[in-house]
Amino acid sequence: MEVFLGIDVSTTGVKALLVGRDGSVVGSATTEQPLFTPHPLWSEQNPEDWWKGAVQSIREVLRSTGVSGADVVGIGLTGQMHGLTLLDEAGQVLRPAILWNDQRTGPQCDEIRARLGRERLIQITGNDALTGFTAPKILWVQENEPEVYRKIRHILLPKDYVRYRLIGEFAVDRADGSGTILFDLHHRDWSPEMLAALGISLDWLPKTYEGPEVTGRITAEAAQLTGLREGTPVCAGGGDQAAQAVGVGAVRPGIVALTLGTSGVVFATTDQAYIEKEGRLHAFCHAVPGRWHLMGVMLSAAGSLRWYHDTFTPDLSYDALIAPAGDVPAGAEGLLFLPYLTGERTPHPDPLARGAFAGLTIRHGMAHMTRAVLEGVAFGLRDSFELMRSAGLTQIEQVRVSGGGARSPIWRQILADVFNVELVTVNTTEGAAYGAALLAGVGVGVWPSVDAACAATVRSTGATHPRAEQVKRYEKIYPLYRQLYPTLKELTHQLSSV
Ligand code: XUL
Repeated sequence: MEVFLGIDVSTTGVKALLVGRDGSVVGSATTEQPLFTPHPLWSEQNPEDWWKGAVQSIREVLRSTGVSGADVVGIGLTGQMHGLTLLDEAGQVLRPAILWNDQRTGPQCDEIRARLGRERLIQITGNDALTGFTAPKILWVQENEPEVYRKIRHILLPKDYVRYRLIGEFAVDRADGSGTILFDLHHRDWSPEMLAALGISLDWLPKTYEGPEVTGRITAEAAQLTGLREGTPVCAGGGDQAAQAVGVGAVRPGIVALTLGTSGVVFATTDQAYIEKEGRLHAFCHAVPGRWHLMGVMLSAAGSLRWYHDTFTPDLSYDALIAPAGDVPAGAEGLLFLPYLTGERTPHPDPLARGAFAGLTIRHGMAHMTRAVLEGVAFGLRDSFELMRSAGLTQIEQVRVSGGGARSPIWRQILADVFNVELVTVNTTEGAAYGAALLAGVGVGVWPSVDAACAATVRSTGATHPRAEQVKRYEKIYPLYRQLYPTLKELTHQLSSV
């Protein structure tokens, strides 16, 4: 029996997933881990917890499936992007990792824009400086913890710390690397200009690899701890969004991956480095060699529905909550919902953006409000599609939808109607870890390319087609939705400081 192992170092836990040569899921194990918020806006984890979680999950998945370490022929890594992990000369962790959802670096983002010029920054990296990204975190450490900064010899992303403990080498895939915004997006490697402007030494950064490339082999010590075989190849893999896209087969232009979890991610593969000129979309390398992607991130997608459910109808099942909304006409009879319950990233990078119901009348009941929430999220996600079109990505053939929110057929229909595109669900539901396992399969030569790996394993399980009548109706309502944020912006900014 030959299997691949995908390891996902996510924010909530480390998952180890075994996948067979035919693409079947053999088993998985997840070890949860703590997140620390020592100050408001901060979000940190201990790299040692990732490593312990990885060891435990690998041991557990081997134990529970009865698969021997010798049967694991390739390993792929994925994980939360952007997190800053700092090591000293001896490879010791210098401070807790500063994560993707940490918001402390507003002033450092301004500083990066000032040093490069915003336009040049976007030209080189494809992105504006956002608090979530890695580069501003490095400046924060320099300014606030100079004694830590002086000792920095290695800068890693979360999953690459686990890689270091597995193979004893410093390496990163280009998808995750580009999320640092220290990357030259076009050349798919560290940008000398960015490094010079921020005073960061190239020696501190790991070597970069395409997703399927082998970065090193399991050391004797890691083999002993995990039960894997010494010498097993470990492939580069990809940041969680790129690996997730591989896992649902969104690997070629025209196919968009939509992940409807707490946050909502619209991910479009491109065959060249497209950039949204204001930097309102993320533009990163894909985990597929020689391809890129554009990405929009909505912070409260299914998270909006969860908030609504937990606040107003905690005792109803989601199905029972959503069903009556299916009978409400498109547009909820003039009721709109703005889904910015936790601020927003795309298309308005504004931590002070707020949610709203607009247009309430005495006619509106619970079912209208539920429908407005589902539609508001769909409109907010459509903003990412519109930005992609304005960045030159004109052909969108199909959207592959996954995540908890995708389970609702009523929501899927609303999404198809609002986007006016076919929405497809797929058989592979293990997310980024599955994509990482496929990348490992390509890396060790089981499939000749990522395209071939996806073609062999990912199948459509159902399609939702847009309905002409509803599409027409939403074409009228969407421009009204778009007026909500600018109309309310000043007011909600003031409200956030009351
Ligand atoms: C992507 C992003 C998140 C993290 C955590 O830009 O910030 O998806 O990777 O999952």
